[in-house]
Amino acid sequence: MKRRSIIAANWKMNGNLSLITEMIIGLNEVQLAENVDVVVCPSFPYLATFSHLAQTENLQQSIHLGSQNVSEQKSGAYTGEISTDMLKECAVQYVIVGHSERRSIYKETSSLVAQKVTQVLDAGLTPILCVGESESERENEQTNAVLSAQLQPVIDSIGIEKFKDVVIAYEPVWAIGTGKTASPEMAQETHRFIREFLALNSSDIAAKVSLLYGGSVNAANCETLFAQPDIDGGLIGGASLKVDEFKIICSTTKG
Ligand code: 13P
Repeated sequence: MKRRSIIAANWKMNGNLSLITEMIIGLNEVQLAENVDVVVCPSFPYLATFSHLAQTENLQQSIHLGSQNVSEQKSGAYTGEISTDMLKECAVQYVIVGHSERRSIYKETSSLVAQKVTQVLDAGLTPILCVGESESERENEQTNAVLSAQLQPVIDSIGIEKFKDVVIAYEPVWAIGTGKTASPEMAQETHRFIREFLALNSSDIAAKVSLLYGGSVNAANCETLFAQPDIDGGLIGGASLKVDEFKIICSTTKG
């Protein structure tokens, strides 16, 4: 079965209105392979503007809007939080959940991440579930144990069948924003582990899940990374803030 390739831009707390406009105009010029989806995840205040501009500029159908986070609650007295219903009104289709910066800086636990994944799926949106090990965890050969411990609470919470609607992004923490990319072989080995871990519950579902690599992906290294058999695209930080570089990454992706 052919999995869809996904190139997702995580702008983090960067970008502004003019980058939104430039990105939409730029991405509309990109020739995307048939099996490729692009997701742009700007900060919350820009979501509505993005979807409005996407409509007026007639943005190509395979370019989607994503958010970087969401509340695990449906609605109510949660000052400062954003619900899935609000995201849907802004035409958001994907939600990044459990990014390592949320886990480490904002102390999001794997069980909270599992609740967020549940909320996102219940709303009919697609979670991009992030997992990844720190440098010391890799050095101590704990990578597979860490990834299992991050994935298992989500499997327990939603059940393996629902993973057909989940995208997983493997982002080794030591490769994020450091310019230190995992080698294609190392990334492939870890992606294969993730797929095999899911296959312990269902090989059918495991074969269907799109697995993205994230961590210092750029226009120069994306082709060899995405050519690996278990890598179905990327979650891109810094390089997604440069319109021309992001366009190259999108157009290089074969699908
Ligand atoms: P960089 O591409 O800047 O390393 O960031 C990766 C990332 O964290 C995407 O979510």
